[in-house]
Amino acid sequence: MKTLVVASENKGKLKEIREILGDRYEIISMRDAGFSGEIVEDGETFYENALKKAKTVAETLKTDALADDSGLCVEALGGAPGVYSARYSGSHGDDKANRSALLKNLANEKNRRAKFVCNMVLYGANGEIVSGVGETYGNIGYEEEGGNGFGYDCVFISDDLKKCFGLASDEEKNSVSHRKRAIEDLLCKL
Ligand code: IMP
Repeated sequence: MKTLVVASENKGKLKEIREILGDRYEIISMRDAGFSGEIVEDGETFYENALKKAKTVAETLKTDALADDSGLCVEALGGAPGVYSARYSGSHGDDKANRSALLKNLANEKNRRAKFVCNMVLYGANGEIVSGVGETYGNIGYEEEGGNGFGYDCVFISDDLKKCFGLASDEEKNSVSHRKRAIEDLLCKL
């Protein structure tokens, strides 16, 4: 089976990408593939960040690399946390603190509409770029529910599933997620 390096060290993302693409590729994380550098995500859009991650890893390891940049956009917060989703509380990658900051900032807000957005970029060893975009819609709950998934899953009530991603099985989330939709969009263009 062909291997594909994923430019991420986020375990939640890697797990889902493996579940979605595992029948086509053997998914290898950039760390397992030998990439030891740090990539600063300083883009203003999901696409810019995904492109930077995929390009950096592809050029360093001289291989094809896939990157996902994703986040939560909340209507009442003007689209925040958006590209800052991983560090909304100030501390990068602290999912629990990020969820608490979000619930606090929405405490008196009736409009709970939100969407997850994912941009996927496949950067080829030959410099070719293919990308895909996916979104999934829902509402932010008033408290955490369930313990499945990662990031904001425990506070995101999916329109498609009619329940919180934190209560959904892997299969259920992967059938409607922004990540699944971005990968499908990318695969159509390959
Ligand atoms: P980044 O793409 O590395 O900048 O990080 C994306 C951040 O968005 C994650 O750390 C999560 O907080 C959030 N996020 C992205 N996708 C999901 C998801 O599927 N479920 C829950 N949170 C997500």
